[in-house]
Amino acid sequence: MLESDLIIFKIMSSQTVSATRVSELKSKIEQRQARVAVIGLGYVGLPLALLYSEQGFPVTGFDIDDLKVSTLNAGGSYIFRITAPEIQRACSQGLSATSDYSEIERMDAVIICVPTPLNEYHEPDLSYITGTAESIEIRPLPEETFLKLLVDWTQQPLS
Ligand SMILES: NC(=O)c1ccc[n+]([C@@H]2O[C@H](COP(=O)([O-])OP(=O)(O)OC[C@H]3O[C@@H](n4cnc5c(N)ncnc54)[C@H](O)[C@@H]3O)[C@@H](O)[C@H]2O)c1
Repeated sequence: MLESDLIIFKIMSSQTVSATRVSELKSKIEQRQARVAVIGLGYVGLPLALLYSEQGFPVTGFDIDDLKVSTLNAGGSYIFRITAPEIQRACSQGLSATSDYSEIERMDAVIICVPTPLNEYHEPDLSYITGTAESIEIRPLPEETFLKLLVDWTQQPLS
């Protein structure tokens, strides 16, 4: 993979997060009980969802593409390098996919992997990200939920 400028933003809730809540979340992560959401199940999001699942976390993938959601829930794959048995193994370990954002309320960590195509000025179009953020914002997220936003400005392919 070529070097890229991966920028990770941690967007914290505007509410004050108590030390107890942070400690509870840390404990959940250590015990692999933290529920992880991956929004955008494409070339970046799906492998990431599988990685967290392999690490023992309960993972829910969110995508607006109903075909991707139904394919994953049926144990199939739509990415050449990812086999159906890999998906099935992850599903047996708790991976599921949905297009229903109301599920986001139950999540402890949210990772956004939606497209950032280049616009006519060769700058990343962040409208998918802002759109997703707006969709999430209307949900009453628990105050300790962490949001991570992964943006790759260079648009490099993975291989
Ligand atoms: N593909 C790569 O090689 C690569 C490498 C490094 C970084 N990136 C970056 O990672 C991010 C994701 O890239 P990708 O290649 O995985 O894109 P992709 O097009 O393969 O997947 C994006 C997914 O997001 C879904 N989506 C779009 N809007 C949504 C919404 N509002 N809610 C839920 N799902 C939504 C799409 O249906 C699609 O499944 C981009 O910012 C890209 O620049 C990609």
